[in-house]
Amino acid sequence: MKKSAFPRRAALALVVCVLPALVLLVHAEAPASIKGAPASFTAECSSCHVAYAPFLAGQANWRGIMAGLDKHFGVDASLDDKAHNEISTWLLANAAMSGRRAAASPDFRITRSEWFIRKHHEVSAPVWKRASVKSASNCAACHSGAARGDFDEDSVRIPK
Ligand code: HEC
Ligand code: HEC
Repeated sequence: MKKSAFPRRAALALVVCVLPALVLLVHAEAPASIKGAPASFTAECSSCHVAYAPFLAGQANWRGIMAGLDKHFGVDASLDDKAHNEISTWLLANAAMSGRRAAASPDFRITRSEWFIRKHHEVSAPVWKRASVKSASNCAACHSGAARGDFDEDSVRIPK
């Protein structure tokens, strides 16, 4: 081996093998989040449940949810003004703008909207109450991509 060959090969090995491995590792460890979501949304809205993608509800629902965070389904989920503004702006800009999903629903719940009930008609009442599911709000129990906003029907799996 010529004296200068080794460093060059080592550098090549680094670029070809080590860097891609590092990139993969970083990707694998990044928490799942919805494309384009501000970090505040992922941090503040996914600690108690999966962070619900904005396109799952219309502006009226998101306004209602964001206006009532101090009394949020029995818990206090209030935010400082900066995070509140950032999250509200992003939710409203990416909300469902037309069609069934844009309609307001009772308690501003996604799970009480007409489209949700219709899409889940095949899920029976006892299934929603299984220990592995807990509640209809627990999307990730059946939709493995829920945290990324992926609800493709091909990836639905109802747990036992
Ligand atoms: C401290 C815990 C907590 C935090 C933080 C929190 N939530 Fe919730 N959220 C809840 C609980 C509890 C429910 C009711 C879940 C159930 O009925 O099973 C809920 C329900 C919801 C629902 C209705 C789900 C349905 O059934 O359709 C929406 C929408 C929602 N949260 C949005 C948000 C947003 C947006 C944020 C961030 C600004 C947030 N939540 C932060 C606890 C929290
Ligand atoms: C108990 C399991 C279960 C839970 C929990 C659940 N889903 Fe579903 N979801 C299903 C099933 C089953 C379907 C129907 C799939 C099909 O049509 O083949 C479905 C369908 C959907 C669809 C339509 C997909 C399509 O391509 O037509 C959307 C959107 C959806 N769910 C969103 C949600 C959201 C949002 C939540 C949480 C608020 C949730 N789901 C909670 C089981 C579940």
